[in-house]
Parts: sequence; structure tokens; C-alpha cells
Amino acid sequence: MADIAIIGGTGFSSLKMLEITHREMVSTPYGLPSAPIVFGDICGKKVAFLARHGGGHTIPPHKVNYCANIWALKSIGAEKIIAIAAVGGIRGDMSPGKLAFPDQIIDYTSSRVATFFEDKLSQVTHIDFTYPYSRSLRSSLIKVANENNLDICEDGAYGTTQGPRLETAAEITRMERDGCAMVGMTGMPEAALARELEVDYACCAVIANWAAGKSKGVITMDDIELNLKGGMDKAHTLLENALPVI
Ligand code: HPA
Repeated sequence: MADIAIIGGTGFSSLKMLEITHREMVSTPYGLPSAPIVFGDICGKKVAFLARHGGGHTIPPHKVNYCANIWALKSIGAEKIIAIAAVGGIRGDMSPGKLAFPDQIIDYTSSRVATFFEDKLSQVTHIDFTYPYSRSLRSSLIKVANENNLDICEDGAYGTTQGPRLETAAEITRMERDGCAMVGMTGMPEAALARELEVDYACCAVIANWAAGKSKGVITMDDIELNLKGGMDKAHTLLENALPVI
């Protein structure tokens, strides 16, 4: 069992400070999660870690079994999930290497299984999703990030695209007009599924690059990797300090 779970995204394949007790592949009615869940302790807190893209980083964003991942984490007792996700920066302050804590979502994905409330329902069910992230979990993360002088953006709408390709410059211009501050490929349906199962969910986004058309030239994987490394180090610092107090 675990009190709190971390979903690690691109560039974040393990939780450095976790004192690992065991690993377990948890089966769910929706199939298998992306990887075995890694269980351990951090300062006496029971923490679980799940690699969103699989142990070998082989599952692309549109192929992630989001239902199995969230169901598995709920089934091991996690009441809170912190999702780490690489994103591209759209808004002017979203420069590569920073952490961002989105407070809103716009969903541009298509044909992903996006709900648990589909079959065998006793009645049609709708969730409130006005504020898609847990306000208390977000505030705790922001407080700890500021206490540790991490360079962060405290808000912004996370536009989730289908991927796996990056966007065109025109798509980013449209997303900017829509109000998106950052763009990534895994924000949805992950957040909505967590809400459906009544798990507190917040996202720590790591800005990997300027989104398409927001810098000169094209986006290279080398640049993304470089920025992600620095950003992920910050995410580790954040979690190291946040997990004991959340
Ligand atoms: N677009 C979508 N997803 C991403 C990006 C991006 O520019 N960077 C990292 N994940």
C-alpha cells in the first residue's frame, strides 16, 4: 500500500531518494499499467512510483493505458498523485528548464479512452472538473518550490495534444489564443480519470523546450534532453522536500 503516488514522465524514470521495498505489477479491470509499481519509503511516508511510459520508456503518450495506471494507483491506496510531465512552453514566462504548476487544462486529444464511467452503469455519471487539479496539493507543491527557491511558474493552462508528433507553429498560435500557457501530450485523460476515482491529483510540469514557433528554428531532441535534465533535477529537489510534508 502507499499514501502518495508519483507518475514519472519523460526524463523522470525513477524516484532517486526512494528507499525501495518492492516492485509489483498490479493487474486492473483495464489491463496492465505501464510498468510494475515501485514501492518504498521517503522519510516515513509510503510512496509509490509509476513510470508513465514504461520501464524502458517505450510507450508513446497516445498509447499509455491511462485507465490502468490510475486504477492501479487507486487500488494500492494512493489518495494523492503527483504527475511529472514534460511540456513545451507557450506563455512568455514558460522558459525551458523551469517547473510549472498548471491550474487548468484544455484537452485537444482524440480517441483516447477517457473515462471509467462507460459500461455497466447504474446511472449516467458526470464529474465536476471546473478546477481539474487538486487545489490543496498544488498549493503545497508551490509552497515547497518557493521555499527551495526553485524557478517556477505558478499557474497556466496545460493544453494536451494527441502526439506523438510535436505541434505546428499555427497550432501553437491557436492554442495560445485559446489561453494555453504550456503544451504536453499526457495531461489528459490522466487528470480526469484521477478525479473520477476521487484521487487528489496535481501536475508538476517540466518545461523542456519553447513550443513550436516560439523560438527561432526547429525543436531538436538534443535541446529537449538538455533542458529536461536540469528541469528534472529541480523536480527531484521538489519531491524530496515536498513528500515528507504533504
Ligand atoms: N509539445 C508537446 N509535448 C511536449 C512538448 C511540446 O513542445 N515538449 C515536451 N512535451
